[in-house]
Amino acid sequence: MLVHTPVMLQEVLSFLPPDSKLIVDCTLGHGWHTAALLTLAQNAHLIAFDIDELMMNKAKLLIEIRDNEQGTNIGTRIEYVRGNYADIVFVLHDRKADFILNDLGVNLEHFKAVERGFSIRGIAPLDMRFDTTQAKSAATLLATYSSDQLRHLFEHYADFSSAKALELAQHIVTTRKQKPIITTQDLKLILNTCWLGDKACTVIFQSIRIEVNGELDNLQKFLWAFLECLNSDWRCCIITYHSIEDRFVKQAFNALANTWKYKLVTKKAIKPHYKEVVLNRAARSAKIRVIEKLTNN
Ligand SMILES: C[S@@+](CC[C@H](N)C(=O)[O-])C[C@H]1O[C@@H](n2cnc3c(N)ncnc32)[C@H](O)[C@@H]1O
Repeated sequence: MLVHTPVMLQEVLSFLPPDSKLIVDCTLGHGWHTAALLTLAQNAHLIAFDIDELMMNKAKLLIEIRDNEQGTNIGTRIEYVRGNYADIVFVLHDRKADFILNDLGVNLEHFKAVERGFSIRGIAPLDMRFDTTQAKSAATLLATYSSDQLRHLFEHYADFSSAKALELAQHIVTTRKQKPIITTQDLKLILNTCWLGDKACTVIFQSIRIEVNGELDNLQKFLWAFLECLNSDWRCCIITYHSIEDRFVKQAFNALANTWKYKLVTKKAIKPHYKEVVLNRAARSAKIRVIEKLTNN
């Protein structure tokens, strides 16, 4: 069975207060961080979010197998929430968490499941939705966004120069008038025509995925919402994979630390050890930042 490797697991665990009673894992994925957190915090209950139903079903299965094989009862301590972590306040109501983990981004399985359209490899419908009930897909984005919206996406989320981003955007708009852009291969061919190789195509695909799933909006909402949900003296740990995400987290945490209510546990972002990056390339751009709430007032 294909499984995701959890990123910076030991570092995450090192920030967990072992006497935590309520933990939130905002992005369950395959449940590796969740299982390790519950193994360490033996009296804790955990609320696990994932917006992707397929991912959540897989995590439930993996945790069940693990419990059966190891004689543990981790599954009975998890409350599964198929939903958006940006809604954390509504889900927790008046409950407060002792530790919140948010491991942003995609699961390896999103790329391996070629039919979901996240990967530049293979031929698949341009989908890229985590939430398959949502209307907006990569294909609808490419069919409806103006040249200026596309340019903005490629310039700001994919770090292309303004001129190159405009060239790509205009090429997409011209091409779609002749033939709809509906498969990953259609998009890749357009990008190849503009002299983009596989690495640059991957970055463009990533920028479209970020937009389709509202990833930056969700992170911004969460950076306000988690404050309501955290107990005093307890922590929030965020793993980012993109410079924009890390900038949002850094700015929000620094602003909080400037009040007397929060303290930075990590003064600088922590990066993975090179040995982890050798074993798991998905970890190469990861950064962890942790903040602690000092008071409930
Ligand atoms: C990097 S993976 C998490 C991996 C996980 N920590 C593990 O140990 O397996 C990110 C997960 O977040 C989910 N996700 C992305 N955006 C989300 C959102 N707004 N709310 C909830 N889950 C989300 C994705 O479906 C994916 O499964």
